[in-house]
Order: sequence, then C-alpha cells, then structure tokens
Amino acid sequence: MSSSGMPKIPAPLTNIKIQHTKIFINNEWHNSVSGKKFPVLNPATEEKICEVEEGDKADVDKAVKAAREAFQIGSQWRTMDASQRGQLLFKLADLLERDILLLATLESMNGGKLFPVAYMRDLPATIKILRYCAGWADKIHGQTIPADGDFFTYTRREPIGVCGQIIPWNFPLLMLASKIGPALCCGNTVVIKPAEQTPLTALHVASLIKEAGFPPGVVNIVPGYGPTAGAAISSHMDVDKVAFTGSTEVGKLIQEAAGKSNLKRVTLELGGKSPCIVFADADLDSAVEFAHVGVFHHQGQCCVAASRLFVEESIYDEFVRRSVERTKKYVLGNPLTPGVNQGPQIDKEQHDKIINLIESGKKEGAKLECGGGPWGNKGYFIQPTVFSNVTDEMRIAKEEIFGPVQQIMKFKSLDEVIKRANNTFYGLAAGVFTKDLDKAVTVSAALQAGTVWVNCYLAGSAHCPFGGFKMSGNGRELGECGIYEYTEVKTVTVKISKKNS
Ligand code: NAI
Ligand code: MG
Repeated sequence: MSSSGMPKIPAPLTNIKIQHTKIFINNEWHNSVSGKKFPVLNPATEEKICEVEEGDKADVDKAVKAAREAFQIGSQWRTMDASQRGQLLFKLADLLERDILLLATLESMNGGKLFPVAYMRDLPATIKILRYCAGWADKIHGQTIPADGDFFTYTRREPIGVCGQIIPWNFPLLMLASKIGPALCCGNTVVIKPAEQTPLTALHVASLIKEAGFPPGVVNIVPGYGPTAGAAISSHMDVDKVAFTGSTEVGKLIQEAAGKSNLKRVTLELGGKSPCIVFADADLDSAVEFAHVGVFHHQGQCCVAASRLFVEESIYDEFVRRSVERTKKYVLGNPLTPGVNQGPQIDKEQHDKIINLIESGKKEGAKLECGGGPWGNKGYFIQPTVFSNVTDEMRIAKEEIFGPVQQIMKFKSLDEVIKRANNTFYGLAAGVFTKDLDKAVTVSAALQAGTVWVNCYLAGSAHCPFGGFKMSGNGRELGECGIYEYTEVKTVTVKISKKNS
C-alpha cells in the first residue's frame, strides 16, 4: 500500500521478450500447417511486436481432433473427479496471479489498454472469474424427479463436448476466462481463437494451462483471422457448441454457420447501443461521472458502453457543461506511461470507423462540444469527443461507435424516454439515475436490456449473468445461468418394482 492508502501500482515490465507465438494443441506448440504467420502490432506506436503462427482450417481440424480425443469416454479428463477439475482451475488462477505483471504489461502493450486498468481491473477480474468457475466444478447437480409410474428418475448435467470459442480484442484475458472457465468447470474441452489483434496474453495463458496440469487436448488455442480460423470453428461438424463475443454482424454469421453445419449450440455476446437515463432528481456529480466513465472506459471499446445518454430537460445544459469539462481533462498517450488516461484504439479499421461516425454526427447537425478528430501522428488515437443536441435518427445515436464519443440527448417525460431507450435493435445494458425508488424500479422493469444499472454503471462480477436481449446476443455468460450454458441435461429413468411417495 502507498502512503495514501491506495494499493500501489508497480511499473510495467520493460524489454519483454515474447516467448509464445505458436499454436497450442495437445499441450504442445505447433507451427501453422500453411507455414504462414501474421504480424501483431502495438496500437500506440503502430510498431510490430512479433509474428504469430497463423491458424486456419487445417490447424482448427488438428485442434478439434485433440479436443475430441481428450473428451472420449474413459479419458483422463472424463474420469477425473469434479473437485479435481476445480483444483486445476484454482491452480491456473494462482499462476495468472503469479504472472500478473507480465500479463498486465502484455495486455497494455498489445491491446492499448491503460496499464493501471489492466493491472488493477482486468487481471484481478480475470483471476476472480477462474476462481468462481473453479468453485462451481463440484457443485453442478442434477435433480431427482417424481415422474408418474413406477420409476426412479433423475437428471444429470453433463458437459456438451468440444466447445469452440471465438473472442474479441477489447478484453482479451477477461473474455478468455469468461469462456474457458465455465466450459472447463463443467468438463468440456475447448478450442479457442483469440482475436487476431491480441493473441499474446492468450498464448501466455496457454503455457500456464500446461503448467497447471490440465491433460493434453483439454484446452487448445489457435490464433488466426476470423473468416478463416474463426469460420472453421463455427462451421465444424465435430464442434458441439460455439461461444462468440464480437460484432452483431459476425454473430449472425456464426449462428448461420452453426445451423448449416451440425446445429451446434450457440451462445452470443454481441454489440450494444446502451441507453443511460438521467432524471432531474439524480445526484448530478455522481451521474455525470458514471455516465462519463460508462462511455469512455477503455477508449469506448466496451460492448456495454453508455453510448446513448438521455438527460432530463431541466438539467440538460448543466449536465452537458459538466460532461464536457470532465472530458477535457484527458491526457492521451502510450498506455504504459504513468499519468496517461486515454490510450489508442485497437487498430486502423476501428479508428477509421469511429472518425467516419464522428463526421456523420457533425454533418447530421449534432453540436460538437469537444474533440472531434484524430490525435497525434503515430498510433490509433482519437480525441475524446462529446456531442450534444443529438437526436434519435442520427447515425451516432443508432450505430455502435466503439470509440471515445459521448452522445447526449434530451428528454421530457418518463414514458417518452422508455420508448426512446427501447427503440433499438440492441438490448445489452442500460443505466438509470434517480433518487426516486419507484421510478428506478419502473424504468428498470421496462427497459429491454440484459443488464440494468441503477445509480451506477459498469459494475459487474463473475457472479452475475451477463448477456443481451434482442440483437445483443443469445444466452448468458457467467453466474449460475452462464455455467449451465455449458451443460446438456440428461433425464435418466429407471424402472423399479414399486415406488413409494
Ligand atoms: P468481429 O466481430 O469481426 O471480431 C470478433 C472476433 O470474431 C475476432 O476473433 C474475429 O477474428 C472473429 N471473426 C471475425 N469474422 C469472423 C467470421 N466470419 N467467422 C468467425 N469468426 C470471425 O469484430 P471487429 O471487426 O473486431 O469489430 C467490429 C465491431 O464489432 C466493433 O466496431 C464493435 O462495434 C463490435 N465489437 C463488439 C465487441 C463486444 O465486446 N461485443 C468486441 C469487438 C467488436
Ligand atoms: Mg470484423
């Protein structure tokens, strides 16, 4: 602890030698079948960090074969005590904790995430998810059922089988843990593809999976691109479930590929355009801060970003003034440098998409309060931007921007704002700010969103189910519901001579 009582953040590591750049199958490192590699960049400098073996269909086939082998009846993994599966996950969490400084540095260097955020927030949350799932391993029960007739009937919650998992670049480690934790505690095997932009921390975790003692083939990690390696997973005939986090556009492709191949189970965590509603009776300082962090956290690259902010008319002007004042405080720069509080966007594609949307906001008549363009001459930086006088039909009010851009809209009445908040294809998250309990409960019930935060935003933990209504997804991740998404229920009915009630 520092003298101020806050936990002290160590300096990030310097001169890291990247150790793991290959495909991880059967607890071994493999070159790609095609011989191809792809470059991994630092988004703050646009410099190449290293090259990584590029997985494609042939490599996915190898990984699925290994995962299937590990899942065979009688295998080490299938016959292992559930409590032992839990112990392996606890061990993995301990190893991440041991390597926290390396992992946080890599997450920052490769993903553009502020080092203090990686170290204080993403890594501890990742470790907690693994421990939460570890605790579940021996608590996944079936039921006994009073079926009609002379029978003894019970259910078993069995693992589904080989799970393909495709994750994005915004929370590489958190997404990895949210996918492999639930899959493994239920006894599945996994083929996971990290995002092409951010494979490095996943590959370090691969080495920890081996060190923790998971049997070969239980976790396989195939770095590569979406339309090649990713599509090979979602259309594979021997993958039993696919779990995906990313764009709604690709989510649709995943579900389609699952339907066209073997009807594998599908869970999807997709985009959002989450409303955040501030009533005039809210604590203004707190609402400004939560709404601000709600959209600007990690450069706006957050599926739950509070990107439609509705503020009640009587406090609108003051709210905008305070939000702009808050946003102008940012120091942009390399996310590994102390004192910097906004890093780069992940890549040029995202950078250009955001600039295009900012330009559309200007053209469609929103009032640009601050920011509004790229920043610096190296790295994918964007000035933190606030638009006021935003109306519902503007592109910036409808499309997921995934950047440091706040849209502030005005509303007059409760019924009106509920309608407007729900008038979207998305339904991931929402925020409500008011001191009136009745209003908070009424609005929370009316909002079509998988998560509603009242007088807070972005609060989340492994215990809470997370996912979307409408086109924000399918199924839930984490919490009890999320664990069960990795099980099949089997009903077993045994004929007996005479039952007793
Ligand atoms: P994306 O959906 O294309 O990529 C996410 C993952 O899917 C990556 O691992 C990628 O390789 C894979 N993928 C891409 N195409 C695929 C395909 N045809 N089959 C199987 N897997 C495939 O997202 P992208 O291009 O990185 O970002 C585009 C937009 O998506 C962002 O601007 C943002 O609006 C949204 N997004 C939402 C995320 C979330 O947390 N819900 C995360 C990342 C992006
Ligand atoms: Mg894409």
